[in-house]
Amino acid sequence: MLVVLISGRGSNMQALVEAGLPVAAVISNRADAGGLEFARSRRIPTAVADHAGFASREAFDEALAREIDRHRPRLVALAGFMRVLTPGFVARYHNRLLNIHPSLLPAFPGLDTHARALAAGVKLHGCTVHFVTAELDSGPIVIQAALGVRPGEQPAELAARVLRQEHVIYPRAARWFLEDKLVIQDAVVRVKGDDAQLVLAAD
Ligand code: GAR
Repeated sequence: MLVVLISGRGSNMQALVEAGLPVAAVISNRADAGGLEFARSRRIPTAVADHAGFASREAFDEALAREIDRHRPRLVALAGFMRVLTPGFVARYHNRLLNIHPSLLPAFPGLDTHARALAAGVKLHGCTVHFVTAELDSGPIVIQAALGVRPGEQPAELAARVLRQEHVIYPRAARWFLEDKLVIQDAVVRVKGDDAQLVLAAD
C-alpha cells in the first residue's frame, strides 16, 4: 500500500491509481487541490493537512506524518507535493519516500525546470523518480525518462511532453518498490531482474 501526497492537479497521483497501484489515501496540503476530486471519485480516502494552520514546519510535518501513518503505508509517494520537508520527516520515511521531479536530476532541481532547461539550451530533458533525502530534489535515482528538446520548443509544450513520461515512469517505480525489487547500494538504485531504469521517449 502507498499514500500519495499532492498539492495541486494530481495527474501523477491519477496515473498511479490508474496503473492499479494500491493507493490507500491521498493527502493534500491544500484544500483546493484539483486531484482531491479525482481521488474522491474513486472512493479513495482523502485528507487535507493545511500547512497554514501550523506555527512551524516541524509541527506541520508531524501532523502530516500522523495522517500518513494512520494508513500504515509501506511507501509514501510525493506527487507534485510542493512543500520542503523537514529532515525529521525525511528520516522517518527513510528509503520509503519517493518523489517525481520534472528534470533529469541532478540538473535543474527546484522550480521552473522546463523554462530553465530551455534557457540553458540543453538538448536532452526529462523527468526523474528518486528516493528523497534531506537535500531538495536529491536522492538515489530509481528511473529517468529522457526526450530530445525540439528546436524552438516553448516551456508549455516541453512540460506537456515531459508530463506524459512522468505518468509512465512513476507507476513503474512505485510498482518496483512494492514488489521489493529496488536495491539501494552506495546511493545507487538497482532493479532486481534488471528492468530498464531509463526510458528514451520517442515523442
Ligand atoms: C509534476 O510535473 C511534478 O513532476 C512536479 O509538479 C508537477 C505536479 O503535477 N513536481 C515538482 O516540481 C517537485 N519538485 P501533477 O500534480 O499533475 O502530478
